[in-house]
Amino acid sequence: MHKVLLTGGLGFIGSHTAVELMEAGFDVVILDNLSNSSIEVLDGIEKISGKRPVFIQQDLEDYDSCFEALQQHKDLSGVIHFAASKAVGESVEFPIKYYNNNIGGLLNLLKLCREYSMFNFIFSSSCTVYGIPDVLPVTESTPTKKANSPYGATKQMAETILEDYSNATKDFHCIALRYFNPIGSHESAEIGELPLGVPANLMPFITQTAAGVRPKLKVFGNDYQTKDGTAIRDYIHVVDLAKAHVQALKKLQEEVLQTRYNFYNIGTGKGCSVMEVIDSFERTSGVTLAYEVTARRKGDVPAIFADTTLAKEVLDWEAQYDLDDMTRSAWNWQRKISNL
Ligand code: WQD
Repeated sequence: MHKVLLTGGLGFIGSHTAVELMEAGFDVVILDNLSNSSIEVLDGIEKISGKRPVFIQQDLEDYDSCFEALQQHKDLSGVIHFAASKAVGESVEFPIKYYNNNIGGLLNLLKLCREYSMFNFIFSSSCTVYGIPDVLPVTESTPTKKANSPYGATKQMAETILEDYSNATKDFHCIALRYFNPIGSHESAEIGELPLGVPANLMPFITQTAAGVRPKLKVFGNDYQTKDGTAIRDYIHVVDLAKAHVQALKKLQEEVLQTRYNFYNIGTGKGCSVMEVIDSFERTSGVTLAYEVTARRKGDVPAIFADTTLAKEVLDWEAQYDLDDMTRSAWNWQRKISNL
């Protein structure tokens, strides 16, 4: 029973996870509505793994079409649920879009899990559920706080829905992975981050600035109470994050977990400032980055990074790549897509 459904599997994290799953011997079926990804990503996955995943173009908000499409795949043993809208700023402007997609889509998917006996479920959650933590590093016991965006609220609601459903459904087992800040790309540069439009996130903005796509990076504030005044995050290589999904799926299949609902911090355990990311990028790319310090971005957390003890102990997983590996691979990918 090694066939897994990846919703949103053509996205940044989904595509890297598809590669790691296939390399670990799993068969992968990708369901994606292509709203924030492109069909060419399938070519990249095939180039790396030598095998083309089955692809279903569907939207989880359309239950009947998804039910119909899955008729061909009654042997799926698990689901990794990536499909969701994820732009914090957009979620403030269009909250209903986020509740329809991120919550409505999840509820439809849980109905499909029941119809197709897909009992092992991995959920793409986020450290955003912690809000602004009082104590660092954050552990899984760190209390979550009221989300400061509808996007963050959908991640918290989804975790609650999954916990309640797992506890009420004997055969259903779930692991939520709370991602910190995934950056970088596969060493082959065949897949990577493909933000549509102006990037909201730091790493793609850096690489697009270095590639001449953007004139200058804005550093959002250098007056935080941190080592150099810029905000701290736990950046994790997207391949390390992808491997965490493989480990989590294996643990669900081995049925070794004590409870039916579990959640783990997936980070490196190290906090890096914006300036440290810029310094690493300049070191690994040899490019001097054009940037200016501007006002803080509304809603930004001054500092957050993970305690990853639990993921190491229970999932037998820990991050292997360092910040230079991340910025180097991000630049390799940007050079590839910019033909530099
Ligand atoms: C990182 C740091 C910015 C852009 C968000 C979501 C999180 C996840 C990842 C989906 C911050 C600074 C950024 C720029 C900058 N998304 N920055 N100039 O906000 O930590 O997390 O994206 O899963 O859920 O909340 O990531 O990359 O936007 O910002 O100075 O042009 O870089 O202020 O300190 P963030 P980010």
